[in-house]
Amino acid sequence: MPRIGEQPAGGFYPRYAVCRAVRRTAAVHWATMPSDLIVLSHYQAVPLLQARRDGRRVARTSLDLNRSACEVALDAEGIVLPGGERLAWSVVEAVAASQNGCYRIRDGSAEKIQTYSEVTGRHYSLYPTAGAPTLLVSGLPMHRIKDTDPHRDTLAKVKAASLARGRVLDTCTGLGYTAIQAARLADEVITIELDPATQEVARLNPWSQALFDDPKIRRIIGDSYDEVARFDDAAFSRIIHDPPTFALAGDLYSADFYAELHRVLRPGGRLFHYIGDLNSASGGRVWPGVAERLRRAGFQRVTPRPEAFGLVAQR
Ligand SMILES: C[S@@+](CC[C@H](N)C(=O)[O-])C[C@H]1O[C@@H](n2cnc3c(N)ncnc32)[C@H](O)[C@@H]1O
Repeated sequence: MPRIGEQPAGGFYPRYAVCRAVRRTAAVHWATMPSDLIVLSHYQAVPLLQARRDGRRVARTSLDLNRSACEVALDAEGIVLPGGERLAWSVVEAVAASQNGCYRIRDGSAEKIQTYSEVTGRHYSLYPTAGAPTLLVSGLPMHRIKDTDPHRDTLAKVKAASLARGRVLDTCTGLGYTAIQAARLADEVITIELDPATQEVARLNPWSQALFDDPKIRRIIGDSYDEVARFDDAAFSRIIHDPPTFALAGDLYSADFYAELHRVLRPGGRLFHYIGDLNSASGGRVWPGVAERLRRAGFQRVTPRPEAFGLVAQR
């Protein structure tokens, strides 16, 4: 009896087995980034099915969520991946039918990239876009995906932070996009993440690889509220503060925490604080209070940056 989604000798995949294969949760417990990481979403699977309908023998696709492109061979049974591994059409069809998941392809089956955290009681998954995926935390996207995408969202944040050389504090790692972009200019980036489960998901995200590979990035697992208190005065030239919504991380919007951010920022240094759409009803309710508490903590020139959905402030 083959494992779920495993290719049986005859190459025939019973429909029920494939459905179970894609519903199964990936047990994301890899200690290091897998070298054979292949991840697909419906953005790749749908065009592959179209290529089959068009009678093509070769198709251009991406096996890393559109970070790079490659060619795969198509035949009656499915697609042939680089390295010779085969993926049955029934698995590709099941991935194509799923609008909200990214799937790790391994041993002929597709495993949804998602996990549940005992630490926080939250559910995490990778949610596809046409480019970089976002992280869903209990159903909430951690990057902008409406009228933009997580990559462009990240570029807007780091531009507002006006990154430069020196040491950068990234208070909330998530998928590591802000840390990765900051490390392109900074000498060192220290990034803090509360929930180790998010990092298990990030390890399976092709767009997060540099988070684990770039020697300029130091990762800390802990609560930023406690971890920031351990840094020396004026230790950072820039801070990117990209917390979840107030409802999920109220402490990270508190006057006490802002006082700590002010303490660890060097004079003349800059803070970018992500909030959400400043012109929305909820953003409009939150940002004036944030600005007021930042000023009370000693920050100057607290300025709304609506294009980046946040505020910048100077020490
Ligand atoms: C909006 S996401 C950060 C996105 C990230 N900047 C990126 O580029 O992918 C917020 C992250 O903060 C984490 N988080 C929540 N509370 C935290 C805390 N107290 N300290 C550190 N991280 C926290 C969440 O688990 C989540 O991964």
